[in-house]
Amino acid sequence: TTVEWEAESYDMGGHDTYMHKEISEQAEAVDRVLRGRIDDRFATVHLGGLNLEPGEARRVRRIKILGCGTSYHAGQIGAQLIEELARIPADAEPASEFRYRNPVVDPDTLYVAVSQSGETYDVLAAVQELKRKGARVLGIVNVVGSAIAREADGGTYVHAGPEVCVVSTKCFTNTVVAFALLALHLGRIRDLSVADGKRIIDGLRRLPGQIDEILKTEPEIKQLAKQYADARSMLFIGRVRGYPVAREASLKLKEVSYIHAEAYPASELKHGPLALIEPAMPTVAIVPDDDLLEKNRAAMEEIKARSGRILAVAHQVQEKADHTIVVPKNEDELDPILMGIPLQLFAYHTALALGRDIDKPRNLAKSVTVE
Ligand code: AGP
Repeated sequence: TTVEWEAESYDMGGHDTYMHKEISEQAEAVDRVLRGRIDDRFATVHLGGLNLEPGEARRVRRIKILGCGTSYHAGQIGAQLIEELARIPADAEPASEFRYRNPVVDPDTLYVAVSQSGETYDVLAAVQELKRKGARVLGIVNVVGSAIAREADGGTYVHAGPEVCVVSTKCFTNTVVAFALLALHLGRIRDLSVADGKRIIDGLRRLPGQIDEILKTEPEIKQLAKQYADARSMLFIGRVRGYPVAREASLKLKEVSYIHAEAYPASELKHGPLALIEPAMPTVAIVPDDDLLEKNRAAMEEIKARSGRILAVAHQVQEKADHTIVVPKNEDELDPILMGIPLQLFAYHTALALGRDIDKPRNLAKSVTVE
């Protein structure tokens, strides 16, 4: 493995944990993944290492994204971005599931492997199997020169810089931004208009400043985390764009605080999870100000009617919620990039309140290079 990062980027820089350092670095990290790639003239982006000619990009009929854990969740948001901006059917699947189910490998499908370390065995094995069958595989990877980056036919680096904490934070955010770039690139080769391309570019440029705004609310999030740290279990809900955000936030909380957490699409509440609602089972609701706002409000009402506590992450204070973390609004498609960030801080401060080993949660390794 070739690691090009400087030794000083491993310095804790005054933070008590790498997790806190890495959460705090996200504005610069996003700035880095955007740098030098935006083409204002054609309202698109250039991704140098993609190795995908425009004619080939136009012939892609499906995109299949493969990753594990947090990278899989980033891929779920990526699939939605690709469908929204490029109108190519796309979905994400855990790489481990994919490789064990003898999948149909289709020549018109573009495969995208996602990994922070670039060494996760399940992802690598899926890539090798796909390549053996003649499929085209791109990598969205953080570690330069890693095994998955080398095996892929092309791809893009995430440029998050070194991520030391076992729990992934800044790499998740940068990976989703990298997917937004890929989706914009493919969209502008296909049917995305110049006006929409410009709208997304403007939104991408606003992200670093908005991330800094979110990070400034840390004292408030710390207080909230102390109030919810007594929960034995928490439910995370979201709808469409908010659902992968809910899944990633629930993974963060369980990994670092050991509080059981479960994510559900808000629309599925009435099909079972409502039975769990009581004061001791708080819900975190992802409530973006988009066309599903009213639906999300109705879900919160159902929870309130059953005496559930609600913490909302939203673009405006939510009356139905007991607490709201207000985040800045971006373009609807890019909102998921920002809505997970306060919940990284929430997981961090919950773990801190409970005295957990934040950078090295029990039973976990940073990079899972075995089956
Ligand atoms: C993230 O917080 C986890 N520790 C874990 O799910 C991780 O994302 C997963 O193991 C995949 O790692 P990779 O991105 O290096 O492939």
